[in-house]
Amino acid sequence: MSLFKHDVVIVGAGLAGLRAAVELAGRCDVAVVSKLHPLRSHTGAAQGGICAALGNEEEDFTLWHAYDTVKGSDYLGDQDAIEIMCNDAPRAIIEMEHYGVPFSRTPEGKIAQRPFGGHTKNFGEAPVRRACYAADRTGHVCMHTLYEQCIKYNVRFYDEYQVLDLCETEGVICGAVAYEIRTGEVHAFNAKAIMFATGGYGRAWKTTSNAHANTGDGLSIVLRKGMPLEDMEFVQFHPTGLYRLGILVTEGARGEGGVLRNANGERFMERYAPTVKDLAPRDIISRYMYQEIAEGRGLGPKKDYVELDLTHLSLKQIETKLPEISTFAKIYLGVDPSKNPIPVQPTCHYAMGGIPTDINGRVFSDEKNTIKTGFWSAGEAACVSVHGANRLGTNSLLDLIVFGRRAGKDMLDFVQQTKGWLPVPSDAVSKVEARINDTLSRTNGEFIGVVRSDLQEMMMENVSVFRSGETLSKASKEIKRLKERSSKVIVQDKGKEYNTDLLDALELEYLIDFSITVIETALAREETRGAHARDDFPKRNDEQWMKHSMCWLDDSGDIELKFKSVNMKLAEEDDRFKPKERKY
Ligand code: FUM
Repeated sequence: MSLFKHDVVIVGAGLAGLRAAVELAGRCDVAVVSKLHPLRSHTGAAQGGICAALGNEEEDFTLWHAYDTVKGSDYLGDQDAIEIMCNDAPRAIIEMEHYGVPFSRTPEGKIAQRPFGGHTKNFGEAPVRRACYAADRTGHVCMHTLYEQCIKYNVRFYDEYQVLDLCETEGVICGAVAYEIRTGEVHAFNAKAIMFATGGYGRAWKTTSNAHANTGDGLSIVLRKGMPLEDMEFVQFHPTGLYRLGILVTEGARGEGGVLRNANGERFMERYAPTVKDLAPRDIISRYMYQEIAEGRGLGPKKDYVELDLTHLSLKQIETKLPEISTFAKIYLGVDPSKNPIPVQPTCHYAMGGIPTDINGRVFSDEKNTIKTGFWSAGEAACVSVHGANRLGTNSLLDLIVFGRRAGKDMLDFVQQTKGWLPVPSDAVSKVEARINDTLSRTNGEFIGVVRSDLQEMMMENVSVFRSGETLSKASKEIKRLKERSSKVIVQDKGKEYNTDLLDALELEYLIDFSITVIETALAREETRGAHARDDFPKRNDEQWMKHSMCWLDDSGDIELKFKSVNMKLAEEDDRFKPKERKY
């Protein structure tokens, strides 16, 4: 066991973690701890763009961006945070350009921009070109660029260290405990400031665009420390996952002119969203895709998918703007998108909820917004909340760099004012070792993969695009059984080096813990809002439900639920931001 000491320890090496690290590099002693090699972080899968009202290809304003984000969030997004993000976006993009991001270009050499779902001009009049992009590899290039910056400024990386616990002394978060995957040793990290940028958690669902690593570890560690998660009922399904595989086909394909068609060849989104059509927000498109399928207009032997048609785009446009998804369709489905439409179905993509924070990434420990000293969070793991009940495409990468930077600045202020380190508790490492030994010592039990598949099937069936009291009650009962089963799984590999079997067992427990909060908050919220569509409560109910959920979990798997109000700053200043029915 080693004790590593730094001013700041950032857990997670995706774009939020890297952006915070760049802010701190050279100004204090910062380390980034990740269970992966940083360049395998899930940010690399973000394809279509990062938005900012640059106005490079047509007129655009940050106020329009804020309006679209508030409306897209189904009015649950906190408007003070949304205003900050949209106003900061143009600066943040130019900064990324200066760091070296190789954005695609207009003929005059400006950063190219394309339309994306829910982004409009003049308060909903028509789609607007707001997404800055690097072909369909935007997340990949942003992540590589910031990693290079971190290397340039000597940020210390601990690759393949899986954080399994937080350390708390005198009510202050002062460290973390991590399992070194290469050696099987457990180490303590002592820091003045800890940041969780641990990403999303789509692996609880069978069909997902998420990487295998997205098991929600950070969120479940927070729950186990007695802290709440916010708005966990809101989980986004991206409309265009490759059929049966869930691999992302960027919304940028529709930004480039692609259209969705049903079995009759009809461009059905014209009926549901006459103004923006295939560029409606994701919650709306995913719902109507399922409706088309439910009404018998799906394709294939099971009539269970629709098609994304790019055949009218030029080969040059596909090859230069959409090379990645074009290759995916060819390799995984044997479909050449320049010749045939791509079979697609909604895929679990993004978590709007997460660790509650203020606009500087400081973590809240309750519904009264009490700050948990020493602890920050940003990115998909966090809920600041700029996405409310439904995120607009390309607002995610933006969220990562805007709030990653703000958390970095805030942590720097904090460490500069903090003398010395609080010690990590003396039993911090031995507790984690005991948990690992207990898991390894089981000699019989179910296979991890069986329990995990049952979880993924169950979440897909009952807690997907559409939910109801009936499906959620079923899920609520089933998840308790799964929690019990997960505590008894057998780890076949008893070794120390690269014991991914052991990690699978630990991750399964995390998957189940946060899934409980998703199910129970979804069961409690008796309305339809954004990505939370209840068959039995098909309308939004602002009178009762214009509020954020805050959910705690105890050791036995029972939850405590509280609520807090939504920040309405923009609506108080401008009537156009007041909640109304979302029409596109
Ligand atoms: O469709 C996409 O390219 C995904 C982007 C996002 O989730 O922001």
